[in-house]
Amino acid sequence: MSVVANPAPTGTASPVAAPRDEDAHVRIRDLRVRYAPDAPLVLDGVDLDIHRGEMVALLGASGSGKSTLMKSLTGFAPITSGTVRAGDVDVAGLRPRELRALRAQVGQVFQQFNLIGRLSVLTNVLTGSLHHAGPVNLLGTFRAGERRRALELLDRVGIGHKANEEARSLSGGQQQRVAIARALMQNPRLILADEPVASLDPKMSRVVLQLLRSIAREEGIPVLVSLHVLPLALEHSDRIVGLRHGRTLVEGRTAELDASSLAPVYDIEDEEDEG
Ligand SMILES: Nc1ncnc2c1ncn2[C@@H]1O[C@H](COP(=O)(O)OP(=O)(O)O)[C@@H](O)[C@H]1O
Ligand SMILES: [Mg+2]
Repeated sequence: MSVVANPAPTGTASPVAAPRDEDAHVRIRDLRVRYAPDAPLVLDGVDLDIHRGEMVALLGASGSGKSTLMKSLTGFAPITSGTVRAGDVDVAGLRPRELRALRAQVGQVFQQFNLIGRLSVLTNVLTGSLHHAGPVNLLGTFRAGERRRALELLDRVGIGHKANEEARSLSGGQQQRVAIARALMQNPRLILADEPVASLDPKMSRVVLQLLRSIAREEGIPVLVSLHVLPLALEHSDRIVGLRHGRTLVEGRTAELDASSLAPVYDIEDEEDEG
């Protein structure tokens, strides 16, 4: 991922360039994360590759470290040791300005959609372009080209006819599609979807996951999606990484995995131990 910050006024160096390994967009190696010096390791030696065009499912029980792993890619989790690379950017080495530029290029989708409910669907999608603009634009002066693009994206996610409705009037599945259109409005180099279907019924979960996967395939944008429902991961991903207690327990091509090979990710006895 090349960081396209506004040109630095002085001769500030660009973010730490890393050797371009193969074509993996994301390369995480031996990542360890602890949130405080004396706190336990939340991630303990995790590796992760995500290639362009690929949707990778992150599977694991609550507390296994899924969100932390995603946050490491945008500098929201402390990288205690190991490397986190997105494109040619070494996330651990970024300064605040570079981090902002990186975040502008990562589309994020959350369980609770995070829309502004009283604003129109169209305006919510347009806010995706604010990552690349100054705060001046917050007053609502979007250019015609941006509006056209936002409408195209709403068509792309199947809800173009809802553009002028208040976001809060939409169903959960529709709101999540608005959130995906908003993420696409950023022209993201990577999409992180943290439990995007945890609040949706099974039918809408399928619609949303199929949409994310088609975006990965058709736009070539790598997608990392965390899920805690095993059948959804098996149906909607190219690869699965199963985490438990911050460690990678299972990793492989989805076509080569099944419920029994992934069972250790959800060791029932283990969850009972946690009380
Ligand atoms: N900001 C934070 N500060 C301290 N501990 C955290 C923080 N975020 C997460 N944790 C801890 O890290 C562990 C993994 O959490 P998380 O990454 O949210 O897992 P998951 O998304 O799989 O539920 C949990 O024990 C959680 O309490
Ligand atoms: Mg989480």
